[in-house]
Amino acid sequence: MHVFLIAAISIDGQIAEATDQVSTAWTSKEDHKFFVQRTKQAGAMVFGSSTFRTFNRILPGRANIVYTRDVEQFRASTPLTVVEVTGDTTELQNTEVLYATSLEPKTLVAVLEKAGVNELAVCGGSSIYAQFVKAGVVQTLYLTLEPIAIGKGVPLFAESVQTRLTLNNVTHLSEQTLLLEYSTFFVTRENT
Ligand SMILES: NC(=O)c1ccc[n+]([C@@H]2O[C@H](COP(=O)([O-])OP(=O)(O)OC[C@H]3O[C@@H](n4cnc5c(N)ncnc54)[C@H](OP(=O)(O)O)[C@@H]3O)[C@@H](O)[C@H]2O)c1
Repeated sequence: MHVFLIAAISIDGQIAEATDQVSTAWTSKEDHKFFVQRTKQAGAMVFGSSTFRTFNRILPGRANIVYTRDVEQFRASTPLTVVEVTGDTTELQNTEVLYATSLEPKTLVAVLEKAGVNELAVCGGSSIYAQFVKAGVVQTLYLTLEPIAIGKGVPLFAESVQTRLTLNNVTHLSEQTLLLEYSTFFVTRENT
């Protein structure tokens, strides 16, 4: 299964001004278009509960999976139908429900693979990006570089992440906005 990270970043490496800010508040319409098209193509997307709360709805045409440490509490906080993804889940085709999980990234990827998912989009925020990259399950990163400095905000990775990337493609989404496509391989202290 192919797992990719998709994020819009400022030139100073931030993904938001604050945890409760929806990312479309500062990103370009070209980035939004790319995000919708690429995540629909993937079919499944995962994000943390804080990111979910910035838009509070099911994004159509894709399996929406939210990370939360307390599924019952999360279920009580939303009028949406919430279905928990566990190690026994075999089906994730319903795009009308919100899937919720606390599985380790590697376990979630294995469950999705068994359920026939071909691609997973890792959609943030900061803590989810860091955990998926640290788990070594992300093969591709799509970083949209927006021409803005945010200053103090939410960084791409909530925890320290050390990884070496290969730049595979650069696309101008517009005159102002670049899309950088990287692939990953993990570098440890021993081999640097
Ligand atoms: N620029 C972009 O492309 C982009 C994309 C996405 C998000 N963002 C921004 O990122 C910000 C949010 O990022 P964030 O790091 O603060 O929050 P987040 O990663 O969206 O969500 C954090 C929450 O996810 C759940 N979670 C995290 N690790 C978990 C684990 N191992 N198991 C189970 N649940 C887990 C917890 O939910 P519970 O508290 O429910 O347990 C935690 O509070 C927002 O401002 C958003 O706009 C930007």
